[in-house]
Amino acid sequence: MKKLIAGNWKMNGSLSANESLLAEIKAGLVNVSTPCDVAVCVPGVYLSQVQSLLGGTSIAWGAQDVSAHEKGAYTGETSGAMLREFGCRYALVGHSERRQYHGETDLVVAAKAQRALAFGVTPVVCVGETLAERESGDTMLVVKRQLAAVIHAVGHCVSEVVVAYEPVWAIGTGRTATPEQAQEVHAVLRAQLVAACTRGSGPRILYGGSMNAANAAELLAQPDIDGGLIGGAALKAADFIAIISAASVAR
Ligand code: 13P
Repeated sequence: MKKLIAGNWKMNGSLSANESLLAEIKAGLVNVSTPCDVAVCVPGVYLSQVQSLLGGTSIAWGAQDVSAHEKGAYTGETSGAMLREFGCRYALVGHSERRQYHGETDLVVAAKAQRALAFGVTPVVCVGETLAERESGDTMLVVKRQLAAVIHAVGHCVSEVVVAYEPVWAIGTGRTATPEQAQEVHAVLRAQLVAACTRGSGPRILYGGSMNAANAAELLAQPDIDGGLIGGAALKAADFIAIISAASVAR
C-alpha cells in the first residue's frame, strides 16, 4: 500500500509563510524518487491560495474540519460542497483538538465523515485515547468506540476513508508512541476495518503524534502504519520532506 504523509498545519500560517513553505516543499519533493502520497490540511481561509499554489502538482490539499450539515443557517461552518469547490481531496474529522475544545462527540464526527464522503471529499477520521484512558487500560475500548461510530454511519463506504490514530498524550508533546505501542493499536483498528469492508485490506491507517524526521522511519516500518499525520514538523519544509522520504522508502 502506498503510504500517505499529510501535514496538519492547525491554526498556523500566513499568506507569505504558506507561499515559502509550499515552494520549499515542492522543491524538496523533486529530489524524492517515487514519492509517497502527500497532502497538506490548511486553515480554511487559505484553501484558495493553496489551490492556486498546488494545482497541477502531485501534492493534495485538504481542510481541518467539515460541517455535518449540507448547507444553511450554520454560522461559521464550511460545507463539504464548498471544500470540493476549492479542490480539497481530504478533510480531517474528529481531530482530538475538535473533540476536546469544540465538544465534538462520536456521533458528530461520524456525521461529518458521512457528509464529506457524500461530497467526494475523503475524511481523515482521527481517533485516539487520552493519557488517563491509556493509564486505566481503556485504549482499545476508546479507539474502537470512536471508529465504530463512523463505521456505523458510513457502512461499506468505510473503505473510502482514511483513519488516523493520534494518541492525545503524544500530540504536540514531543512524547511519541513507541513503534510497538502504535502498531498494537493499528493492528486492532485494522481488524475492525477489515471486518467492516466487503473486500481488501481496508483504508489506510496513519499515525499522528510528535512524528518527526528522527522517528518517522521506525514508525513507518510497522506493518499496519500506512503513513503519518504530521503537526509541528509539517511546518518546517526540511522536516516534512525528511518524513516524506522515509515514507517513500518504507512500502
Ligand atoms: P504534532 O505532530 O505536532 O504532535 O501534532 C500531531 C497532530 O495533531 C496532527 O494532526
